Amino acid sequence: MINVAVDGPGSAGKGTVARGVARALQFRYVDTGAMYRVVALAAGRAGVGVDDAARLGAVAADLDIDFRWEATSDGPGALRVLLEGEDVTEVIRAGDMGPAASAVSRHPEVRDALLGLQRQLAVRGGVVMDGRDIGTVVLPDAAVKVFLDASLQERAKRRHLELQQRGESVTLQEVADALAQRDDADRNRPVAPLVAAPDAVRIDTTHLSVPQAVAEVLKLVAAALRAADPIDTPEGAG
Ligand code: DC
Repeated sequence: MINVAVDGPGSAGKGTVARGVARALQFRYVDTGAMYRVVALAAGRAGVGVDDAARLGAVAADLDIDFRWEATSDGPGALRVLLEGEDVTEVIRAGDMGPAASAVSRHPEVRDALLGLQRQLAVRGGVVMDGRDIGTVVLPDAAVKVFLDASLQERAKRRHLELQQRGESVTLQEVADALAQRDDADRNRPVAPLVAAPDAVRIDTTHLSVPQAVAEVLKLVAAALRAADPIDTPEGAG
């Protein structure tokens, strides 16, 4: 079974689109950003600072993280994230966890510790994985690679709405500034920076609805499946 890699900056719609694609294909959705968020949470709880590469690496290597894919009425959609058995799905989405995750993610010690786990989750295929370096580093052989983007203004609007729904009071401008700063850090770090793989297809979601963006990715999946099994296509049949 093939894998689908979805990369892009913060709040470009990666999670929502990846979940929709996974649901349509009956694949598993793997959120690698959640892993970095959990490392940031665990490190914070252990009193480890975001600059302490060695201890952060140890936190990531010893991480007791678990994913549960909950069946929803429309398929295997919802993903719960557990840290030492505690459901931290909501906690890691707080406004300050994105910058904290970005800060811990710049250390190679942390990235190396998570890479094995990420690859292991995709080893049998049938996974839609989202993050920053999935198409470039984690799954360079993924049959479909997508780079999702949207204008900063649109991404800030989406993130602002999400935070408001969580009850966090923050202005749109503050959200936009924080997103821009985080993207800048993710793009300019020396290890596994946020960049589109040369063979990734760029999709700008600024003016796309979620179903439209999902449909775009599903078209790429269908094309990849046809390419992998040309017997089924009229060209290959003859
Ligand atoms: O996708 P997200 O907002 O949950 O990711 C949080 C941070 O984690 C992001 O700013 C950078 C880091 N990250 C990463 O470095 N590599 C990934 N594959 C996923 C996330």
